[in-house]
Amino acid sequence: MSSETSTQSPDRKPRVAVVFGGRSSEHAISVVTAGAVLRAIDRTKYEVLPIGITTDGRWALTADDPERMAIAGRELPSVEDLVESADGGVLLPVTPASREVVYTEPGAVPKALGEVDVVFPVLHGPYGEDGTLQGMLELAGIPYVGAGVLASAVGQDKEYMKRVFISFGLPVGPYEVIRPREWQADPAAARKKIVDFAGEHGWPLFVKPARAGSSMGITKVDDLSGLDEAIAEAQRHDPKILVESLLRGREIECGVLEFEDGPRASVPAEIPPVSAHDFYDFEAKYIDSASGIVPAPIGEDATRRIQELAVAAFEAASCEGLVRADFFLTEDGEFVINEINTMPGFTPISMYPRMWQETGVEYPELVDRLLQAALRRPTGLR
Ligand SMILES: Nc1ncnc2c1ncn2[C@@H]1O[C@H](COP(=O)(O)OP(=O)(O)O)[C@@H](O)[C@H]1O
Ligand SMILES: [Mg+2]
Repeated sequence: MSSETSTQSPDRKPRVAVVFGGRSSEHAISVVTAGAVLRAIDRTKYEVLPIGITTDGRWALTADDPERMAIAGRELPSVEDLVESADGGVLLPVTPASREVVYTEPGAVPKALGEVDVVFPVLHGPYGEDGTLQGMLELAGIPYVGAGVLASAVGQDKEYMKRVFISFGLPVGPYEVIRPREWQADPAAARKKIVDFAGEHGWPLFVKPARAGSSMGITKVDDLSGLDEAIAEAQRHDPKILVESLLRGREIECGVLEFEDGPRASVPAEIPPVSAHDFYDFEAKYIDSASGIVPAPIGEDATRRIQELAVAAFEAASCEGLVRADFFLTEDGEFVINEINTMPGFTPISMYPRMWQETGVEYPELVDRLLQAALRRPTGLR
C-alpha cells in the first residue's frame, strides 16, 4: 500500500479548485460560501480555479466573480447564473496518474486547464458533504479540504452519527429510526413505533430526514394530528427518517479546526431561540442571518466541557480539517450532542468562522489553515 505526500514544484503556487453549488438543496448557500472563500484566498500564495456544479450535477467552469455569488436582497445565487458556457463541462481525471483538469465542449477539442493541487469542496449536503465527492477525489489522488469518505458519510447520516457518538460515550438524546424497507413493509407498524416513542418520551417530537441539512424536511410535531404530514415531509427528503424528543435547553455550538499539532476547539457560540420561526430553520439560518452570541455566555466550566466534547466528536467520527459540533445545554447543565457538520456554513457571518474569529483566527487565516491541512495530508490510506 503506497502513501505519498502531495508535492508541487517549489516555483509554482499550489492550485486550488474551489468546487461549489451542487445537486443538494443547499446549492445556493454553497454558492454564497464559495464567493466568500474566493474572496479570502490569498492570491499571492495560491492559484484559484472556480468550478461550479449545477443543480443537475454538471461540472462547469464559472467566473471568478465573488460579487455575483452573494445573496441580493432575498434573491439566492446559483451556479447556472455564473457558468461561462451552457454545455461545457469540467472533468477531473479519476486516476492518480494525473491531476490535469480538462474542459470539454461538444464538437470541440478538449482543453487542458492545468493541474489541481488541492480541492476545496465548498459543498453542503448530499453529493458534496456526504463522502461521495470525497470518494471521487480519493480515486483521483487529489488532496481536499475537510473530512474524508467515512467521516463525511457519518456526518451526513443522523442515524449513524448517533450510533458513532453513543459508541464513543458521547451524550445523545432519545431517538428512533424508521428505515425505508420498514416503512414500505408495514407503515402502520412503523407509525406505531413513533407513537409509542412519543408515549415514552412525550410530545413534541422532531421528525427529520436522516440525510438532509439546513433544517430541510424537519418538522416539530406537537401532537398526533401533525404526525402523518411530518413523516411525509421528512420522507420527501430522505426515505429514512428519525424522530427525536424535544431537547429543552440552550443551543450551543463549537468549532474544531485542525492545526499543525492536531485539532483544537474554538470558543463556543449560543444560538438564541428565533421567535419569528418555530425553530432554527432554513430562513432563520440563511436569510435573516440569525445572530448567534459569540462567545456563548455559559461560564468557564461549561466552555471547557463543550470544547472537550467537540474535539471528542471530531475524533469519534475521524474528522479532518474542520467540524462544527452542535449541542443542547439542558436545564440540568448537561450537554447533549445534536449533530456535527463536516462542512458547516462558512460565510464570514456564519457561526463557524465567527467562533474562530473570536478565538483569534480571522477568516483568510481559517481558509489558509484548511488548505494547508489538506496539502499536508498524505494521499492514500492514512
Ligand atoms: N431534538 C430536538 N430538540 C429541540 N430542538 C431541535 C431538536 N432537533 C432539532 N432541533 C432544532 O432544529 C434545528 C435543526 O435540526 P438539526 O438536527 O440540526 O438538522 P440540520 O442538519 O438540518 O441542521 C436545530 O438547530 C434545533 O434548533
Ligand atoms: Mg443543525
